[in-house]
Amino acid sequence: MVNEYEIKKQICEIGKRIYDRGMVASNDGNISVKIADNVFLCTPTGVSKGFMTPEYICKVDGNGNVLEANKGFKPSSEIKMHMRVYKQRPDVMSVVHAHPVYATSFAIAGIPLTQPIMPEAVIALGCVPIAEYGTPSTEEIPDAVEKYLQHYDAVLLENHGALTFSDSLLSAYHKMESVEFYAELLYHAKMLGGPKELSKSQVERLYEIRRQFGMTGKHPADLCPNCKDGKSSCHSCGTCSTKSSSVDADLVAEITKKVMESLGK
Ligand code: 13P
Repeated sequence: MVNEYEIKKQICEIGKRIYDRGMVASNDGNISVKIADNVFLCTPTGVSKGFMTPEYICKVDGNGNVLEANKGFKPSSEIKMHMRVYKQRPDVMSVVHAHPVYATSFAIAGIPLTQPIMPEAVIALGCVPIAEYGTPSTEEIPDAVEKYLQHYDAVLLENHGALTFSDSLLSAYHKMESVEFYAELLYHAKMLGGPKELSKSQVERLYEIRRQFGMTGKHPADLCPNCKDGKSSCHSCGTCSTKSSSVDADLVAEITKKVMESLGK
């Protein structure tokens, strides 16, 4: 039996962490938790997620219809995005949406996080694709996100932010932290001349560790069609991520570097 009030308190605590870490500005971001079949708790629309108390939290059904909400509070305007994740992923118990600076910058630049640069990111996330742009609060974002839901637990939202989901609220939040840390490291490595990527065999060994640990959730290591065919999986294989912009971006960076070198700069 879930203690609803406890979960409301936990949502407020995670909202505060997201706000305090600068993963959202102003009233941005939203959080939801599944508490029973077709029953969910979610943050209200238009409030700072850093200053919520349990009375703010709304209760909705699987279509986002209000079951309970205190006066003055309405469910998040992005509730349809959350509900699409729960519908497609019965294993998911919590969804977190935020606008962390580095991850959102990659989403704005159109560069998915596909370069294997550090073990923790490879094990926890694999790659993080970008779902194509949609107008917030419409069905466009849920539609754009849907095709990635069976392969990933984290997705960047083009020109918008990031979405993570998992089997608990804490784990969904941790995935958001991991996405942002991965993006921040990748950004700085690019500034330093470009990351030295882990080799295919190093990536394979990390995927094997993930399998041995029996880690929950979806991850390209388990699902990449190449992996199933016994070929090297994901990380730049291009099969799971429909975007080729990371390759384009790297090519542009390489050409720019060569041009600058030839100019003696
Ligand atoms: P809500 O306050 O309606 O949840 O919206 C915040 C947000 O970040 C929209 O993308």
